[in-house]
Amino acid sequence: MTARHADRTSAPATGLASVRHGLDTRGYAHLTGLPDGFDHLDLLRGLGRVLPQYDGRPVWDLVPEPDMDDVYHSRNTRALVPHTEGYELPGRPPRYVALWCVRPAEGPGGETTLADGRALLARFSAADRGRMRRTRYVWRSSEGLARRGVALRAGHPILAEHDGRAILRYSQNNVRPAPDASPSGADGELLGRYLREGAALFAAAHTPVALARGDLLVWDNWRMLHSRNAFLDRRRHLKRVLLGT
Ligand SMILES: [Fe+2]
Repeated sequence: MTARHADRTSAPATGLASVRHGLDTRGYAHLTGLPDGFDHLDLLRGLGRVLPQYDGRPVWDLVPEPDMDDVYHSRNTRALVPHTEGYELPGRPPRYVALWCVRPAEGPGGETTLADGRALLARFSAADRGRMRRTRYVWRSSEGLARRGVALRAGHPILAEHDGRAILRYSQNNVRPAPDASPSGADGELLGRYLREGAALFAAAHTPVALARGDLLVWDNWRMLHSRNAFLDRRRHLKRVLLGT
């Protein structure tokens, strides 16, 4: 497996402008060297509206929970699979996802991993991309969230558009053809090919980002796929914010 290392930007000298530049060019920004007491949420409010998390709060704590190690869930130490955030929500998914690091994992693992959805779409023909815009699939929330009483399901195409910008949805494990899918099996064939190509792209060309204490990572969730490497240190603590347009 090959991977590029993330480009880093020192802040706050460049601040919000460098975040916007990173988002517009490579799809993400990684700010390092932030001073103690830096107000991450205040900076993020400059990018967009802070959206409520699954529990209704503005900030989601990514910390391993003791009873979640046996399911697919953000709050454990296991690897996640490539996805975009909020594919199962009824409306548009969050425009941006932001993480900042309260305590990094000691030892191996725990990196956030990113890959460019534009490179994934480039693997498909114009005809395939047209079908991705027209065909609705069923997107469901994760097994771990179901254990916490959150069960969401929504019908969306793989590709949508808002204000002239493409919106890409991706889930390696929680999307299925709709009940009224084409009897020919074409919808399932396209989805299967999309997921195989996504997994291959992610394995070959993801960027691992290791967050040090205080670092901020923001990515364009309408463009980038993300995931997480497994880790051992149960004291690892990140905070997550979702931003709307
Ligand atoms: Fe995620």
